[in-house]
Amino acid sequence: MSEKKARIAVFVSGGGTNLQAILDAQKSGIIKSGEVVLVVSNSEGAYALERAKNAGIKAETVTRKKTGSQEAFEAELERLMAENKIDLIVLAGFMNILTENFTSKYPKRIINIHPALIPSFCGKGFYGLKVHEAALERGVKLTGATVHYVNEIADGGEIIMQKAVEVHDGDTPEVLQRRVMEQAEWVIFPQAVEKVSAELMA
Ligand code: GAR
Repeated sequence: MSEKKARIAVFVSGGGTNLQAILDAQKSGIIKSGEVVLVVSNSEGAYALERAKNAGIKAETVTRKKTGSQEAFEAELERLMAENKIDLIVLAGFMNILTENFTSKYPKRIINIHPALIPSFCGKGFYGLKVHEAALERGVKLTGATVHYVNEIADGGEIIMQKAVEVHDGDTPEVLQRRVMEQAEWVIFPQAVEKVSAELMA
């Protein structure tokens, strides 16, 4: 293992429980090949920003609204990645679909967590609670989470890790979301961050 750690930027939009799982895993030593050096939110006042602050990590807010266009938004993100010498971008509940213009600049250097077993319930329009609503609507008995590389196809990049979670009778979208987070997302995401960081730094 090399001494140098991958410099990680985590992109967030909301509560940031996955960011928290990554920060906790860094503390406990599950993540040892990478270090979160920057948190970027595309929404003002996201609670994830508080989590970054509490952990003493530099945080930036870049919104589509303020930058004016997706192109300008991505240009600003790119600037931040260069300025902070980022090796790995981790999308943790980041609710913006990055275009090929951005993703093609970081091949195998952007990973995302999706709250379902890809290829089920994924792609455009499937995010957050909507994913669990769709799973319950379809009546699947197993769902889960997937960590994958990000390319130009929404939720279409190579799969890195998956974990299945049972759906129970009477589940609401909120109850199912919480179980998927606890049993899958917060478990496999830190593991995948470590795996990819170690590979990048090898
Ligand atoms: C998580 O369930 C994550 O998998 C999902 O949003 C939630 C964010 O929660 N991401 C997507 O749906 C991306 N398509 P968090 O802010 O507490 O980590």
